[in-house]
Amino acid sequence: TDDASLVIVILGASGDLAKRKTYPALCTLHAKKFLPQNCKILGYARSELTNESHKGMIKPYLKGTEEEIDAFLEITEYVPGQYCLAGQGPSVFKSLCDKIEAHEDGRTRCNRMFYLALPPSIYPEVCANIKHELPTNNSGWTRIVLEKPFGRDLASSEELNRHICALYREDQLYRIDHYLGKELVQNLVVMRFANRFFSPIWNRDNVSNIQIIFKEKIGCEGRGGYFDKYGIVRDIIQNHLIQVMALVAMERPCTLSADDIRDEKLKVLRCTKPLASDNIVIGQYGRGVDADGNLRQGYREDETVPSDSNCPTFAMCVLYVNNERWNGVPFILKAGKALNESKVEIRVQLRDVPGDLFLQKAAPKGTQTRNELVVRLQPDPSIYMKMTVKEPGLETTITQSEMELLYTDKYVNAVIPEAYERLILDCIYGDQQHFVRRDELQAAWSIFTPVLHFIDAGGMVPEEYAFGSRGPLEADELRKRVGHVTNIIQRDITWDDT
Ligand code: BG6
Repeated sequence: TDDASLVIVILGASGDLAKRKTYPALCTLHAKKFLPQNCKILGYARSELTNESHKGMIKPYLKGTEEEIDAFLEITEYVPGQYCLAGQGPSVFKSLCDKIEAHEDGRTRCNRMFYLALPPSIYPEVCANIKHELPTNNSGWTRIVLEKPFGRDLASSEELNRHICALYREDQLYRIDHYLGKELVQNLVVMRFANRFFSPIWNRDNVSNIQIIFKEKIGCEGRGGYFDKYGIVRDIIQNHLIQVMALVAMERPCTLSADDIRDEKLKVLRCTKPLASDNIVIGQYGRGVDADGNLRQGYREDETVPSDSNCPTFAMCVLYVNNERWNGVPFILKAGKALNESKVEIRVQLRDVPGDLFLQKAAPKGTQTRNELVVRLQPDPSIYMKMTVKEPGLETTITQSEMELLYTDKYVNAVIPEAYERLILDCIYGDQQHFVRRDELQAAWSIFTPVLHFIDAGGMVPEEYAFGSRGPLEADELRKRVGHVTNIIQRDITWDDT
C-alpha cells in the first residue's frame, strides 16, 4: 500500500532457477499489477555482469508483451558481489545494502523479501549476513524464501534449520515446494472438503490404494552435478509427492488458516511409518529411444555423472499411514525420469464391488474393473472418475467410461497461473499455507532417511530401465503385491498406462 515499499532480492540471480522460474514469475505478477507500486527487484550473484547483460540474460525467459517486459526490466537491477567473506569483516553485502537503502529512502514501512536461489550449504551464512549486514529499523517485514534441497537427510536438514531458525522466526521463513502452488494441488482441499461425494468413501473401507505418480520424459541431461548428489527420492518424492500425499490423506482442518492446514498435514506425516527397504524399488535409466524416436544415452554416460553412479533416477515407494482412516491402505509414490511420457497424477483406486454380479458374465476377460478417481496435475489439468457402465448395444457387456472435468474444455479462457507466481504472491501477502513448516519437513525426512542411508551405503542397486520406457518391471510387481489392480478395460490406454 501507499507509502510502503518492497524490495525483492534474488540471491543467485544468474542461476538457472532464477532465470527459468523466479524472474518470469515476477514479470507476470508485475504485468498483472500484483506487485506493489514501490517495488524494486535486485538480482545479486557472484558473476561480474553488468546490469544490461543481466537483463539480456533473463529476457528470453520472460513472458508478456514487449511493453510489459520492458516495464518489468525497468524495476530490476543487478548487483554483483560475494555471499560470504570468511573473516573479512562486515562488508560483504555493502553494495546490496546501498541499493536497498537508496530505494527505501525516507519511507517508514519497507518490506523486504530475500529469495535464496542458492546452494543450501551457504544458507546459514547468507541468512546471518542478511540479518547482520542489512539491518532494518522500520515497521516493514523481512521474509526469506528458501528453495530445496533442504538438506540430504533428517540430520542435515535439522542442522540447516537450527542455524536459520536462530536468526529468523518461523513466520518469516518460506520453504518453497512449488508443487503446492499448482492449480490442482490447491484444488485438493476444495474438492475434498466442499463436496459430499468424496468424504464418505475417503477411507480404508472403500479405498484400495492411492498412487501419486510423477513421470518425466526428459533425463538428467546436464544437471547431473546436482542430481547425482540427491537422486529421485530426494529430488521429487520426499518433497513434492509427500506434500501431495499429506493433502490427500489429511483430516478436515478446523479452519483454512495456514497453521490449521499444516497441523493436519503434519499429523499424516507423523503417522506414516518410515519407509522399509522391501517397500521401495529403485531404477536408473540406461540407453534407449525417446518418444521422438531418438537414441538417447544412459544416465551414467552423461558427462556430468560419475560412470559408476548408483543414483536412482526412478523410484516407487509404498507408504502406510498408521491411523484409523488409512490403516493398511498403500500409498504408492512413483517418480521417474527418462520415461515414456510426462505426466503427474493422483489416482485413488476403490475396492472391488462386493459380490459383483457382472464378474462371470459380462467382463470380457473375467476381471472386474475398479472405480478410480484421477486428479491429473499436468499436462492438461483434469479430474475424472472412471466408472463401469454397460457398453451400448443389445448385449450386456460392461466397459469403463469417464466422468470428466477437463480444465481446457470447461474453463476455456482461464489462465492457470504458474506455481511460482502464486507462491511468490503468497509470500508478499504473508500467507504461509502453501509453504513447508519446519516440523513438516522434519517428519518428511524421518520417513525417508533410513532407506536413503541404506541406498547411499550401497544396500540396494538400481535396476536398469531403458530411456523412454515405463521404468523397471519390478515396480509393477511391487504395486501388484500391495494390492493395486490394473484395470483391463481401458478406453484410452494412453491415459491409464501409468
Ligand atoms: C523440480 C525437480 O523440483 O521439479 C526437477 O528438481 C523436476 O528434477 C521438476 O524436473 C518438475 O517440476 P514440474 O513443475 O515441471 O513438474
